[in-house]
Amino acid sequence: MSINFKDYVANVKDFPEPGIIFRDISPLMQDGQAYAAATDAIVDYAKAKNVEMVCGPEARGFIVGCPVAYKLGVGFAPARKKGKLPRPTVSVTYDLEYGEASLYMHKDAVKPGQRVLVVDDLMATGGTLAATIKLVEELGGIVVGTAFLIELTDLHGRDKIKGYDMFTLMQY
Ligand code: PRP
Ligand code: ADE
Repeated sequence: MSINFKDYVANVKDFPEPGIIFRDISPLMQDGQAYAAATDAIVDYAKAKNVEMVCGPEARGFIVGCPVAYKLGVGFAPARKKGKLPRPTVSVTYDLEYGEASLYMHKDAVKPGQRVLVVDDLMATGGTLAATIKLVEELGGIVVGTAFLIELTDLHGRDKIKGYDMFTLMQY
């Protein structure tokens, strides 16, 4: 069965602020077949890359990244928001489509030389991806690919991420 993934994205106008169309993946997560098919699409992309660790930013990056890691049979390294990680961290501050944020990773979350796939639900400006790549590389990881359910093409996030391979399942 072929799935039209966009049927499982709710488009919410003016959330969280006027002018933003929020692309909500909750309906996709709610449907077991669609969620599994979306996960499998990322897994298929990653298969030839000898991925050793998946990394995803809090919170929606966990929703997409953890099942991918499970299916690939590798670990998951979370990039978390401020004040969540109990042991020594590296951190980075970055701009969002709306606002500013910081991300943190445990210093031992990725081992030097490890081949890392960075996964998230959506790329908007690419700020979160650039920040996550920076953290992984600071820890000595090699970013061998990046994968998203959704790319907002008008925001040109790809231009920020030159030199890294990227897979996006849906484009808006
Ligand atoms: C959203 C989304 C991506 C990021 C994309 O996360 O899940 O991580 O924004 O935007 P960018 O490409 O402009 O950086 P958000 O920070 O809203 O956090 P959440 O996952 O906890 O909802
Ligand atoms: N994160 C950043 N921009 C977003 C959008 N338009 N929809 C959903 N998540 C987002």
